[in-house]
This record gives sequence, C-alpha cells and structure tokens, in this order.
Amino acid sequence: MQDVKEEIKARLPVEDVVSQYVELKRAGRNFKGRSPWGVDKTPSFMVSPDKGIWHDFSANKGGDIFTFVMEVEGISFKEALEKLAAQAGVDISRYSGGDVEVTRRKARAREALELATKFYQYCLSKSKSVQEYVFYKRNLNRGTVEEFRIGYAPREGRVLRKFLTSRGFSEREMNDAGLLNQYGGDMFRGRMMVPFIDGSSVIGFTARVLDKGEPKYLNTSDTLLFNKSRFAFGLAQAKEAIRRDGFVVIVEGNMDVISSHQAGVKQAVATSGTAMTEQHLKMLSKLTNDIRLAYDGDDAGVRAAERAIMMAGDLGINLTIISDYQGAKDPDELIQRGSELWKKAVETRIPAVEWLLDKYEEKVDMTSAFGKKQYSDVALKLLDYVKDKIERAHYEELVARRLGVSREDLRGKEGDLERKMREKPKRRLKKAKTEAKNDTLAKLEDAILAIMVYGGISGPEEIEVPEDETKLAELEMIFDEMYKNFKKNDLERELRELYGRLKKELNKNEIEKLGAELESENLDPEREKEILRKITELSKT
Ligand code: UTP
Ligand code: MN
Repeated sequence: MQDVKEEIKARLPVEDVVSQYVELKRAGRNFKGRSPWGVDKTPSFMVSPDKGIWHDFSANKGGDIFTFVMEVEGISFKEALEKLAAQAGVDISRYSGGDVEVTRRKARAREALELATKFYQYCLSKSKSVQEYVFYKRNLNRGTVEEFRIGYAPREGRVLRKFLTSRGFSEREMNDAGLLNQYGGDMFRGRMMVPFIDGSSVIGFTARVLDKGEPKYLNTSDTLLFNKSRFAFGLAQAKEAIRRDGFVVIVEGNMDVISSHQAGVKQAVATSGTAMTEQHLKMLSKLTNDIRLAYDGDDAGVRAAERAIMMAGDLGINLTIISDYQGAKDPDELIQRGSELWKKAVETRIPAVEWLLDKYEEKVDMTSAFGKKQYSDVALKLLDYVKDKIERAHYEELVARRLGVSREDLRGKEGDLERKMREKPKRRLKKAKTEAKNDTLAKLEDAILAIMVYGGISGPEEIEVPEDETKLAELEMIFDEMYKNFKKNDLERELRELYGRLKKELNKNEIEKLGAELESENLDPEREKEILRKITELSKT
C-alpha cells in the first residue's frame, strides 16, 4: 500500500492535483491560493511542490494529495486512491492484495457501462421517433444531448445483452453493471437513457418511458459502482460551475438538472428520486456553503426541505429555498416558458427556515388556539436546528410575533419542550462545540510543534513530536509561512505565548467537562465538593 501511494505521488505533482480545484499563484518556492472551503478572507492556502504537501491556514487542514482529494471531494481514502491512481495511470489491482477481484470486477462493469452508453447513443441516432421526443418534446439541443450522453434503449428484449456478449462480456459482468433484469434480459427497454456519470465514467442509468407508462423512471439500483445515497446527478457536469460561482442548486428531478444546464444555470444537481442524505449534503458543502434547494411547495417538498434543514443544521450549513416558480410544476416547466425566468428564480431565494415557517402557517388555522399550538410546536422544533444564536433570536422574534405572544412566553414553552423531548439535539450541539474547540487546540499545537521542530526551540515535554513524514513537512510549511523571519528571542517568546494559550484552552475544556458533571443527577455530595474545588483551582491559572 505504501508503495502504491508513493508511486502515485511521484507521478502526480501536488500542484497539479490541487489546481484542479484551486487557482494557484506562485509565491517563491510555494504556491498560494484561496481556501477551497471558502473560509479565508485573503489567500491562505499553500502548496509546497518540494515537499509534496498542502496546508490550509484558515481551515487548519493539511496533508498530501490523498488527504486533499478526500477532503475536497468528501470521499474515503480508498476512493481517493482509486481516483488518483486512474489519473496517474497506476494499476492499483497489482498492489491491493485481497481487493484484486473486486477491483477487476468494477473495472469490467465500467467498461460494460461505457459500451452500453455508446450503444444507446447510437440507437438514438437511428431512431427518428425517439429523436422527436428528445429534441422537440423535451426541447433538448444537440450540445446538451451530447454532454449528458443521452441515448435510447430499444424495445426488443435482449439487444444490449447480445451486443455486449459479442464484445466478450459475461452475464455476471453485465449483472455487476446493473444492465440485466432478474430474467437475464435487458434491464432497460423502450426508454430514453440518461447515464449517471461519476467523475468521467458511467456508473448507471436513469431511464424514462417515452410518454406514458409505469414506472416513469427506472433507475440502476445499487451496484458495485453505484450508490444512490452518495450520488448527486449532474455533479460531474456541474462541479466546475459550482466552484467558480460559489453556489449549488439542488432540484428534485434529473431532467430538471439537464434543462437547467441548457438554460445556462450549470450549478444544478439532483438527488435522483431518493431523499437527500447526509452524505449528499456533506459532499456538496465541501464545494460551497451556498446551497439552494429548488423543492416543490407540495407536502412532499415541504417534508424533504424539513429533513434537509435538520441535517444541515447538524452540519452547520445554511440552506436557502428557491420557490419562485410562478405556478410552474418544476424547474423544467419554468424553463420551457423561458430560461430567464429560471435564472431569476435562482437569484430570488429565501432562508429555508423562513420558507418552512411560512408553509407551517399556511397549513394551520392561526386564529384558533389549537392551530397556534400546532404552529408553535413545529416552529420551535425547527428553531432548535438553527445553531447561530443571533439568527435564532431573530426567528424566535418572528414566531412570537406571528403567535401574538412575547418572546419570553415563547421561551417558556421552549423550556418545557427542551426538558421533555429535545435531548438529542442538545447532545449534537455539544458535539459541534467540541469540534470547534478541538480545532483551536490543533491549531495551537501545530504552531508550537512547528517552532519546536523547525525553529530549534525546545518546548514542553508533554508535547510529542510526530514521526509521520507528511505531518512533519506540513509543520515545516507552517514554520516557513509564519515564523521564518523570527529571531531566536521572538521564537521563544512566541512559543511561551502559544503554550500559555494552549494550557488555558485545555483548562477551559476541563472546566466545561467538570461543569457538565455537576449538572448530572444523583451527584454524590463529596464529588460535588471536589468538582467545585477543582474548578476554582483551574479558573485561577
Ligand atoms: P417527477 O415525477 O417529478 O419527474 O419525479 P420529473 O423529473 O418532473 O420528470 P419528467 O419531467 O416528467 O420527465 C422527480 C424525480 O423522481 C424520480 C426521478 O429521479 C425524477 O427525476 N422518479 C420519479 C423515479 O425515480 N421514478 C419514478 O417512477 C418517478
Ligand atoms: Mn418534470
């Protein structure tokens, strides 16, 4: 495994990998750019070609090409390895012991799917009536059809199977690709074929009946290659625009994505008929913080938005809703009336919480006591997911005003609710806090280590110097960037100062932990005394 990593690293310069995502400018021996996580105000992202590493000073992350791709794409190490191996032209099956067989099967499934895509594209070029549907009924143009590699699966039961067999694919390989049905015939028949594209390869299809029929869409089910809870339709085609313009639009339907692209809004993706998952949100939030949902205003749309908001709240992401459809059923329909209407809609968005509160209000009778209770129940539950204090106060004010009560009364109710049914969110909030804290700690520790190792200043013993080479290279970069021109005296002073802050930070953690223990029920009085004593002591330092 180490060998294969080294071989890939040797073939792929770190600046080449990074510059697929971040615009880099030379800065001496290094390169500099903006953080791909959008958290910096000035360029704080550094790449060192000599060391083969990167470090993001604002997001406090760093590492080699593998960690970079993992972080920026939101994928696992294995996936990053596969991706970079493909870019480097390194055959990982030679290295990856037990997985050789799976890797080979995946590669064959990809080949089968690629060939199937070409076959379907060919069939579309031969069928006038299907072209009629694609080009006139759906109003797609040639460029779009080519970019999304749209095709047609003929009606006959086994044409694709026969074709792939003639090209040397076995039944099992076609099954791995999800191209056969349970009877061994072609999975897709008489449908417009839209491939699921991952990076640059096809991993499955969504297939629409021409005109009427059930089901309207038939999708590849989960296979070795395709996992619907991780796949965002159109992302391969949208990624560049999302990164460039800093926002993403999530629509409900795959055809909405395609139409949106054609209309010039290339930042659209869809979560293919299934509900959005946390994985989807995580993946997209690595690309941008500006996530816009274009969900229908019907009950299903409201429920989907509700779920999305709750997941997003946990992840610290703010969502907005695009809902200015002017009576159109979905973005596609709006686009058919005029691309400009959709372009405008994408710009007129409202915070998801506000949108949901409006929807709740529409649903209940706000003049009755019962209606008010219903409204306040759901509204307060929703506000629990708003993590920002100021924002939350704003919405509490809004809800209170709509109910015609004071914010204090509303808070009273909230207190009841909190005790009864909102244990879980509280715990989650704590987790978010801990993460933020760990971030500060890690930053302080990195700076201290950088000074110790590359400034040659001896530091506190309890801080252990890492042995990992990538980490060491990263520390060197931190040193070069922040302390290079420091004199020995300055370094010593800086180290003392940082260490003081680190200790304070650790104390604060400890106090908080003890504080939490104080709140626990059935606390032994002796223990309580001890905790109080410890807290007093810690607060002094
Ligand atoms: P819709 O029924 O809203 O379809 O389903 P649509 O996107 O507007 O499609 P057109 O315009 O009639 O062609 C929304 C999404 O739900 C999934 C599909 O991903 C679709 O894009 N879906 C719908 C299925 O997976 N299977 C179905 O049978 C129907
Ligand atoms: Mn539609």
